[in-house]
Amino acid sequence: MSINDWEAFFDTHAPHYMNNSFTKNTVAEIDFVVEQLKIPAGSFILDVGCGTGRHSIELAKRGYQVTGIDISSGMLEEASKAAYEAKVVVEWIHGDAVKYTPTHSFDGVICLCEGAFGLVGKDEDPMEHDMAILNNICKALKPKAQFILTTLNAYSKIRSFTQEEVDRGIFNPVTMIENNVVEWDLPEGKKLVQLKERRYLPTELQEMFHKAGLRVENIWGGTAGKWGQRKINLDEVEIMIVATKE
Ligand SMILES: C[S@@+](CC[C@H](N)C(=O)[O-])C[C@H]1O[C@@H](n2cnc3c(N)ncnc32)[C@H](O)[C@@H]1O
Repeated sequence: MSINDWEAFFDTHAPHYMNNSFTKNTVAEIDFVVEQLKIPAGSFILDVGCGTGRHSIELAKRGYQVTGIDISSGMLEEASKAAYEAKVVVEWIHGDAVKYTPTHSFDGVICLCEGAFGLVGKDEDPMEHDMAILNNICKALKPKAQFILTTLNAYSKIRSFTQEEVDRGIFNPVTMIENNVVEWDLPEGKKLVQLKERRYLPTELQEMFHKAGLRVENIWGGTAGKWGQRKINLDEVEIMIVATKE
């Protein structure tokens, strides 16, 4: 597997993905999403970077018409099996959220737990990558429809880096890009991953969203298992942005 190839990474990881502890709160997460979106059953929802479809399937169980897009065919294979077992129908699209052109518009869009946003390849420019995703999401939304994103929290990373890591070139404080080889403890075993990561501060996210045509309504703490209308914890892994198409 080539490093930083997220498609290949998730294809291999797919059969084990649902063994990650952060996937265990799906029902509560969808309770929260439904409460935020406030749209009736039957509405169209797009799940960007849907993975094994855990959110898409839970939404479909509640009567929503869901489309899930993901770059990994392995993840979509798991999603399709799970939808069949749950006896629900979801439209699965194998594609790159950076290049996705929606064929119809949606009443709500979700992009949760690093579904595409922030997962940058080694030759990609993080800002271009993530702006393209936001632009496509904005195009997919009906006017005044909502978008919910959970993404990595820049504060926690900034607070964890040492000057020695900056001097070694692991973190560039000018570009805010981390280039690092990290060992991930995955359900299938330990794996070395070459990370190229650009986390955004809430102030930057607000500007990026505005540029894409999305008005940020709220920014809350967003770590999986701890979603709620609460302030960001500086050391938590993820934050949540709730926005509306302008
Ligand atoms: C950590 S998983 C999150 C999956 C799901 N949203 C969840 O909460 O369980 C990240 C997913 O994003 C997908 N992904 C990464 N880059 C993508 C891209 N450019 N376009 C679409 N999907 C992408 C991966 O294949 C993977 O399934």
